[in-house]
Amino acid sequence: MKIRKAVFPVAGLGTRFLPATKAMAKEMLPVVDKPIIQYAVEEAFAAGIEYIIFVTGRGKKALEDHFDRSFELEVALKNKKKEELLRQVKDLVPKTGTIIYTRQNEPLGLGHAIWCARDIVGDEPFAVLLADDLIQSETPVLSQMVDKFDRLRASIVAVMEVADDQTDKYGILDADAIEEDVVRIKNMIEKPEPEKAPSNLAIIGRYILTPKIFDILGRIEAGAGNEIQLTDAMKQLLTNQPIFGYKFQGNRFDCGDKAGFQMANMAFAMERPEMKEKLTEFIKTMHLNIDK
Ligand code: G1P
Repeated sequence: MKIRKAVFPVAGLGTRFLPATKAMAKEMLPVVDKPIIQYAVEEAFAAGIEYIIFVTGRGKKALEDHFDRSFELEVALKNKKKEELLRQVKDLVPKTGTIIYTRQNEPLGLGHAIWCARDIVGDEPFAVLLADDLIQSETPVLSQMVDKFDRLRASIVAVMEVADDQTDKYGILDADAIEEDVVRIKNMIEKPEPEKAPSNLAIIGRYILTPKIFDILGRIEAGAGNEIQLTDAMKQLLTNQPIFGYKFQGNRFDCGDKAGFQMANMAFAMERPEMKEKLTEFIKTMHLNIDK
């Protein structure tokens, strides 16, 4: 079965980026010149996704407007003969009817946000993308995962090794390697302290899940941080179905973290030929200053 739908939980308040996020959705913060969320949406479409499901909350109007036509802007760009920009602003708008919005009206956690999309997803496997995890790669990570899904026919989560003292920021796996880049998950724990972590293999924000997860999400209790955790639901799913971890190809940036966000900006800017030279020069001078 084809993965047609992708759920984007975007209801978070973005307190880590205040005051920037006081009146603006954190997903709209730009990495170079594109909002973080647009990278994730483009990744989903590149992987063959047909329906984008945003689980939003209050204060996300700019996000909705971003993925809609803006006639005034289009006319202005046309009059100024800015053809390339015009093409870009038109192309980023998905076909009407392919974006679906629903609201999470209480901040009860990631698991609860996904559960809010249960009737929109229905009875088919689907993807989840956490836009904060921005991944620079030749082949978009969700495409890599869809390939694996086509072969494994089971739930898959993106995974990577993290520093031993960082386990309390992630869902952490206990897993057996079955292929060079695939592990079979035996257990998982949300945000364990380093001494309680079964490994340093962490879940990164890309998932392909079977719809069975919704039944579990509908009845589990709050876990770490007093939130309904997707990791806890997947742990229960393991008693019925296998779940695999996939060590993706690519560089992941944590855009939910201020330093990670700056690194993402640097890395993506360096990919732009028109900026690379200027930035390289600047980094060299900064480097000299740091060494002093
Ligand atoms: C969420 C998940 C966690 C995962 C992480 C990846 O945590 O709950 O299991 O490892 O995303 O970024 P959050 O970063 O939303 O606290």
